[in-house]
Amino acid sequence: MSDLRRTSVQDLLRSTELDREVLVKGWVRTRRGNKYVQFIAVNDGSGFNSIQVVANAEQFPEEKLKADGVDNGAAVAVRGKLVASQGKGQSVEIQAEEITVYGTADQDAYPLQKKGHTLEFLRGIAHLRPRTNTFGAVLRIRHAMSFAVHKYFNDHGYFYIHTPIITGSDAEGAGQMFRVTTLSDTKPPLNEAGAVDYSQDFFGKATNLTVSGQLEGEVAAMALGKVYTFGPTFRAENSNTARHLAEFWMIEPEVAFFDLQDNMDLAEDFLKSLVRYALEHCPDDLQFLNDQYDKELLNRLKFVVENDFQRLTYTEAVDILKGAKQKFEFPVDWGTDLQSEHERYLVEKHFKKPVILTNYPKDIKAFYMKLDEDGRTVRAMDVLFPGIGEIIGGSQREDDLQKLQQRMQEMHVPEEDLWWYLDTRRFGSAPHAGFGLGFERLILFITGMANIRDVIPFPRFPKSAEF
Ligand code: 4AD
Ligand code: MG
Repeated sequence: MSDLRRTSVQDLLRSTELDREVLVKGWVRTRRGNKYVQFIAVNDGSGFNSIQVVANAEQFPEEKLKADGVDNGAAVAVRGKLVASQGKGQSVEIQAEEITVYGTADQDAYPLQKKGHTLEFLRGIAHLRPRTNTFGAVLRIRHAMSFAVHKYFNDHGYFYIHTPIITGSDAEGAGQMFRVTTLSDTKPPLNEAGAVDYSQDFFGKATNLTVSGQLEGEVAAMALGKVYTFGPTFRAENSNTARHLAEFWMIEPEVAFFDLQDNMDLAEDFLKSLVRYALEHCPDDLQFLNDQYDKELLNRLKFVVENDFQRLTYTEAVDILKGAKQKFEFPVDWGTDLQSEHERYLVEKHFKKPVILTNYPKDIKAFYMKLDEDGRTVRAMDVLFPGIGEIIGGSQREDDLQKLQQRMQEMHVPEEDLWWYLDTRRFGSAPHAGFGLGFERLILFITGMANIRDVIPFPRFPKSAEF
């Protein structure tokens, strides 16, 4: 077996070169058959489909296969001849000549049985769920989407900026933060007021995990023009929902000389190109998810690619919601933040397409957003998607130093923490805009999965950091 090179299952399934000796390595998904012939489905993760290995009972009696552990979950190598398949469901199969077992999986103890499992059960065995059809599909799509993000920006002249994970400013106000410290658990140094003295901490100040790379992204945009970040972000909100994680990945482009209009155009083109990429590059995985979980998935993805997003202001949206026949749990009033029931009404019932809401009241948005002429609203934009709600949040940024300082005072954002950020407005300030796309919310949309905990390998949420 040693001088034969291993081929991936996907390459074999696509191969037109038949009647040749091949070697595959992977995990047994199923073994079935009778006393004349056994069929072993082997999957190596290279794609959705497994390859069928046909084991003739003369050479591989069922009892021997069982005794060797050639069963669901075992890691195996199979050498044999690639031939046209007699059966339906696959075009090629391997006639086994030699089967080597690397690692068996005790059928009584192995948690993944042939019968399906609930997604909730699989969350409890997140270390094994990548071996299921569902999570294999989700993880391959997740990879494809990461790649597509980088490809889109690279193709359009953007530079990838690595913004810090540990931050000394907790000023963005995007959410509660996780403290990062090396001080003693039991006896931290205290200051005169009796509080922990972080000046004695590792960085000489209190530090946290970042909630966003935006502020550093803005710094880079003021030099490189078109940049983006794509990294992990952390929020310690106690949000136990199917749309929130405590650790999630965010993509944040930031562009010099962009206004809100340009920002919306970028967001729409970017999202459409990502969905198009998934349709083109992940057909098997998407077809499976469509058939298994959500019969409308493929139609919805195509719809998003083919139709313009509806653009309107927050104020216009509030008028629509106030006139809606539907009763909402939370009342709608100009000046309050929209709840996801409102967002979903606009997207799923009223417009029946993705929506970009703009010009929100300044008091419900971050300090850095550019003030509109009316002094009441800011140049914010949220992109709302069917089944998801907010998938993107962004804005044109306030580029006027005095106005920015005033907003910081009004919102109690300390200037001394952000002196470096304010310098971008002191020296060569320019109009600019950007946004943040929640990567897991994108994956939710693309895969049609219902819970955000099922689109990241190892989810982090309140009371859960297993694995
Ligand atoms: O709207 P957010 O809070 O915006 C920002 O952080 C800005 N700094 C982005 C920018 O302008 N550069 O978050 C952006 C997106 C949301 O629209 C949502 O998709 C996602 O990040 N998001 C979450 N995803 C999963 N779990 C959470 N707890 C999330 N919070 C936000
Ligand atoms: Mg937001």
